[in-house]
Amino acid sequence: LSIEREGRGLRIRWPDGLAHSFHPLWLRERSFDPANRDPLTGQRLEEAVFLPLDVSIRSFSGGVETGVELEFSDGHRCAFDASDLRRAVEHPLPDDLVGAKRLWDASLDPLPRHAFDDTAGDSGLLALLDDLARYGLVLVEGLPGELDALKSLTDRIGPIRVTNWGGIADVKSIANAYDLTMTGRALEPHCDNPYRLPGPGYIFLHCIENSAEGGDSLVVDGFHVAERLCAEDPEAFRTLCETPVTFRYEDGDAILEHYGPLIEVHPDGRVHRVRFNNRTDQVVATTIRELDRYYAARRAFADLVWSPEMMLRFRLGAGQGYIVDNYRLLHGRTEVRLATGNRHLRQCYMDRDIVASRQKTLRRATG
Ligand code: OGA
Ligand code: ZN
Repeated sequence: LSIEREGRGLRIRWPDGLAHSFHPLWLRERSFDPANRDPLTGQRLEEAVFLPLDVSIRSFSGGVETGVELEFSDGHRCAFDASDLRRAVEHPLPDDLVGAKRLWDASLDPLPRHAFDDTAGDSGLLALLDDLARYGLVLVEGLPGELDALKSLTDRIGPIRVTNWGGIADVKSIANAYDLTMTGRALEPHCDNPYRLPGPGYIFLHCIENSAEGGDSLVVDGFHVAERLCAEDPEAFRTLCETPVTFRYEDGDAILEHYGPLIEVHPDGRVHRVRFNNRTDQVVATTIRELDRYYAARRAFADLVWSPEMMLRFRLGAGQGYIVDNYRLLHGRTEVRLATGNRHLRQCYMDRDIVASRQKTLRRATG
């Protein structure tokens, strides 16, 4: 580790060549010195906004093993692990679920499957959450037959998101449907409820009965679609990243509306959310020229979503279910021939922070 002054900053260079010049106030406010932190929560106890803006580094020493020891012009002393500083440079922003993503298409085989019983223990549950991080999709087998069996699964992860439609809700055809999902109609690949804020993070679906013809499940890896669009039609990709689209749902009791681009890029450059919901979207009325570009770009995106090589199809039986990342995957179903039998699913949502926190604490516990 080489450490030297560079202007007001401190330049640290790791043996493999990675180097960064740290701002003195950035180092000063990051101090993990116990005197500045609540021992229980790790939260900062001093009002860092009022630290001297011209704080400087009085002295420094250290190495890879010993860490970096600093004394600042306001008299404060602290030490950092070299690896913490390195992580701050290499991985400045947090992930939701952690772990490398594997983009997939219709050829994904086998599907990531987990037995409900295996999720009772920490290692089985972590394996499921790691697969959810990797694929944005996991199938769950052997759910109990009760209507609220999803609760036994979600309780192992965290609290579910309760909306104006309740917690665990029916996806079943009824006479006075208030949503297209309650009819037998096919559902085009979509993300759920982009008109909510925050949008539902993860969707849990549980099949109670699927005896009617049709009603096969469809899933598409939206990140893979976005990556392909970026490679094959960069202009369309950019247009979908930059064009704001509104999403709206209204009935007698609720008005839900929000907006966002169809493809959302994280500040670090990775695609981190796709929105695709043909039932509720309405692009902002901009110019003819811009809308020509937007509609062509959306079509290019949709052509990839619908292409047989991207769309994975499977059939849920009673006691099976799946979890999808609603910011990454698009899901749908084929038409249900209601005269031929019954189709009854249950579903609920969970926020992203809850799911990610469970995975991260399990990983911490298992070292
Ligand atoms: C939905 C939905 C999937 C299915 O209700 O939004 O996607 O298989 N349902 O019915
Ligand atoms: Zn849906």
